[in-house]
Amino acid sequence: MSTKGSSETIEDGSDVLIVLDTRKRWLSKVTSGKQFHCHKGFFDFDQIIGQPYGSKVRTNKSIDLTIYKPIPSDFLQHIPHSSQIIYTKDAGLILLNGGIHPGSLVIEAGTGSGALTSILAKYVGSEGHVYTYDNREEAYNTSKKNLERLGLESQVTIKLKDVSEGFDEEKVDAVVLDLGDPCEIIPHAYAALKLGGVLTVFMPTYNQVERVYIKLQEYSFGDIEALELILRGIQLKRNAIRPNTRMIGHTGFLIFARKLLGENE
Ligand SMILES: C[S@@+](CC[C@H](N)C(=O)[O-])C[C@H]1O[C@@H](n2cnc3c(N)ncnc32)[C@H](O)[C@@H]1O
Repeated sequence: MSTKGSSETIEDGSDVLIVLDTRKRWLSKVTSGKQFHCHKGFFDFDQIIGQPYGSKVRTNKSIDLTIYKPIPSDFLQHIPHSSQIIYTKDAGLILLNGGIHPGSLVIEAGTGSGALTSILAKYVGSEGHVYTYDNREEAYNTSKKNLERLGLESQVTIKLKDVSEGFDEEKVDAVVLDLGDPCEIIPHAYAALKLGGVLTVFMPTYNQVERVYIKLQEYSFGDIEALELILRGIQLKRNAIRPNTRMIGHTGFLIFARKLLGENE
């Protein structure tokens, strides 16, 4: 998602991931004439301009930091947000099971901070498009800023609209819902999808899973599948390779379903 394309050399204006260790990592934009500061000191961005990604730089406190080219999960973890953003594990499955591919037309609601929007936009590429809806002005402004920062604004149309009024697009390849009450939006998702198109619903509770499942059956969706992804990190320490003591126990459930020809079409 770097605005600097596929260059392998750090340039003025490049996005970089600056890493001290597995916990202390910062996403920053290289700016000639300015400095990067952290609790381990500072360095001049000019010290890394022209260097290859993977280089190390020493701070004024003699601490080495490594400079990486950011990958999508780095952007997702560092994106400024005011609402809960999608986790990388769930975003990955949404792409693969949600029928989303380069060139897809995708509707998303709600936008939130634009974290999932950025992943969808990156994946559909310049041949596809993401129409994302949120009814909060703050979400509109934050996501707009985040998408511009990532250079993805041309692949996304952000709409400040309550989706209980319906979607403006028709015959899209995929609809992704991550909002408070997905059930009432299912008829609108059905109307917007092309036949065979995939609806993905992300929701935090079993109660919602049941309500969504019942509604999907009323609205001629088939191949309905409900999943929860549980991710366990592994401690990487010589002679002590084992699962981490702490983990995120729950993020949400995912339902995938495909639009069938039915009475509602
Ligand atoms: C959990 S956030 C979405 C986070 C997003 N997936 C991300 O990764 O940043 C849910 C969003 O849905 C929006 N929302 C809730 N109900 C809505 C509705 N009826 N129409 C449009 N947006 C809605 C909220 O304003 C909120 O920003």
